[in-house]
Amino acid sequence: MSNRNHTPTRANSPAATSRQGLDTAGQVAAQHARQIDSADSAAVIRAKKALNILDVAQGLAELEGAAARVAVDEKRIINCRADLNQLVPLRYDWAWQKYLDGCANHWMPQEINMTADIALWKSAEGLSEDERRIVMRSLGFFATADSLVANNLALAVYRLITNPECRQYILRQAFEEAVHTHTYQYCIESLGMDEGEIFNMYREVPTVAKKAAWGLRYTRAISDPNFRTGSLASDKELLRNLIAYYCVLEGIFFYCGFTQILSMGRRNKMSGVAEQFQYILRDESMHLNFGIDVINQIKIENPHLWDLALQEEATQMILQGTQLEIEYARDTMPHGVLGMNAAMMEDYLKFIANRRLTQIGLKAQYPRVENPFPWMSEIMDLKKEKNFFETRVIEYQTGGALSWD
Ligand SMILES: [Fe+2]
Ligand SMILES: [Fe+2]
Repeated sequence: MSNRNHTPTRANSPAATSRQGLDTAGQVAAQHARQIDSADSAAVIRAKKALNILDVAQGLAELEGAAARVAVDEKRIINCRADLNQLVPLRYDWAWQKYLDGCANHWMPQEINMTADIALWKSAEGLSEDERRIVMRSLGFFATADSLVANNLALAVYRLITNPECRQYILRQAFEEAVHTHTYQYCIESLGMDEGEIFNMYREVPTVAKKAAWGLRYTRAISDPNFRTGSLASDKELLRNLIAYYCVLEGIFFYCGFTQILSMGRRNKMSGVAEQFQYILRDESMHLNFGIDVINQIKIENPHLWDLALQEEATQMILQGTQLEIEYARDTMPHGVLGMNAAMMEDYLKFIANRRLTQIGLKAQYPRVENPFPWMSEIMDLKKEKNFFETRVIEYQTGGALSWD
């Protein structure tokens, strides 16, 4: 059994002869298992007979990419012709490493104690109206935004990214988006909020609806089952989608809400919700970094796509996203609250936007802006063990809900 991973043996060596013998014996035994037995029911006989006409060659012809062993330099992020079911040899170590890092950061919302939040939310003097508005709007935006991201990944992007190590990360990311949506649902349920009101904000509250609608346009373009990459126009369309989702949705639209809720946590208010957001922010910063790497690698492999027209368009997309997030900040903070105000948030969003622009090789567009919230970067870099609220359980249970000691 262990021979499989050792140095290949020469064709006529005793080990090779013994392996061929095993292969033959195995094939005979497998054929024997297909024979109709007197104990077989009519249904089992039908199943066995149906398999007799299975054409393996036809089945394998359905595989994406060429049917051959993969050489590492054949691998490409888009329009790759090599077999996509062969993960190794790895070409993009950064994608595989992010998959491993994502798995190492696993967490679930039920791990976080919400008792203090529930008491604070239900008490009449617990939070000001401005603070309550921030909690409601944040949950309202995020409860559906993560579904938009997950759907974009699963229904549009996954199919078009033709690299198995990137797909491995995208599957991990898609699961994390499911955990995030679960988290918002968990917070909404714990706090006893009106679920219909919260889950419909992305349709009913204008500053939330504009952000959702802005992102959805870019999914529509590439989620058509007939959409294929491989032409200048369609490859650019995919790049636009990646910039819209990774740089703008996950890279800008999440930041006002994250900052507001984490600021609340720093003031010991809604610390359970804040802790949930802290874990989500850490996941999101990895999603963002993965997206930046994918976009930049596509540019390296396909420099003709990144022409002046697309650079100008990408800049405009990031500026539009920043503008929508500034409007969202104004709408959620008509007054100063939690030691911040809409003007400070505007500076922060411009600072973030400059980062997003330069991360994909574009010029910063907002001169002389500084980061008014340096503590946000510290939170993003926090390791799981250094959780500042310290309420996390250590071990995972299987087959049931987590319980508190
Ligand atoms: Fe998410
Ligand atoms: Fe994400």
